[in-house]
Amino acid sequence: MPDIDVATQAKKFYEDVPTETPGFFLKGASALDWGMKNRLSRIFNPKTGRTVMFAIDHGYFQGPTTGLERIDLTIVPLMYYADAIMLTRGILRTTVPPALTKPVVLRCSGGPSVLKELSNEELAVDIEDAIRLNAAAITLQVFIGGEFETRSVHNMTRLVDMGMRYGIPTMAVTAVGKDMVRDARYFRLACRICAELGAQLVKTYYIPEGFKTITASCPVPIVMAGGKKIAELDALTMAYKAIQEGASGVDMGRNIFQSDAPEAMMQAIHKVVHEDMKPAEAYELYETLKNQEK
Ligand code: R5P
Repeated sequence: MPDIDVATQAKKFYEDVPTETPGFFLKGASALDWGMKNRLSRIFNPKTGRTVMFAIDHGYFQGPTTGLERIDLTIVPLMYYADAIMLTRGILRTTVPPALTKPVVLRCSGGPSVLKELSNEELAVDIEDAIRLNAAAITLQVFIGGEFETRSVHNMTRLVDMGMRYGIPTMAVTAVGKDMVRDARYFRLACRICAELGAQLVKTYYIPEGFKTITASCPVPIVMAGGKKIAELDALTMAYKAIQEGASGVDMGRNIFQSDAPEAMMQAIHKVVHEDMKPAEAYELYETLKNQEK
């Protein structure tokens, strides 16, 4: 058995040396097949290599959470501002107009509700249905360190295998249990495990200390998870830092749809992600657009 990270020698992440991406704009994707590259190019803008993904899949374990009570009324109009939408097949089929051509990142895991142990998930969609729904990517939670860690990792490897069969990339979401330490060491571990076991992209949380070591040591693109609602300027700052520290985009939910001005927030996030707009300027833009929304 190899050592479990007990080497005394300092680790070297070469954080300032970008990973080469020969022949294709996305990290770790050069050897993928045409269909998979094409789908990834729908999610990530090939000009910037980045994405603004809009996460509205919370209902799969939380029910109608604040802001998602009426997706038809308040959320569908926001989808037009996103580069990709992350949601369940139930909401997609019942509520999203098929004429909306945004790439779909389809939630494929589920099982426990907020009332139970969340890591006890199973795969909850057949690959055939993901194909029917024209999914650009499939996604699930991976609970590294969680009670059902092995099950969720196995769910991921099965989903990756299904996706490989049809050229659909898998996005692994690193789910952090309530009692777990959210530090660079944990996220390096979780993200790297997801990539090593085949995920073509990983969604994870931003942390102020050592985020660059997480993006540097993960051989596939990382998109930043939004997390609970914080002040708009703080959310823009977090997104800015994540991008500057190597994230290939964001996948945000509550910090957009629970904002006082969700359309304005979405547009400000876009500027931060695709144009490297500084947080203060993006916040000013948010305020201007917010006043126009009124
Ligand atoms: C799993 O927990 C999910 O994918 C979430 O529903 C989503 O990531 C939440 O997005 P946010 O934290 O930005 O509201």
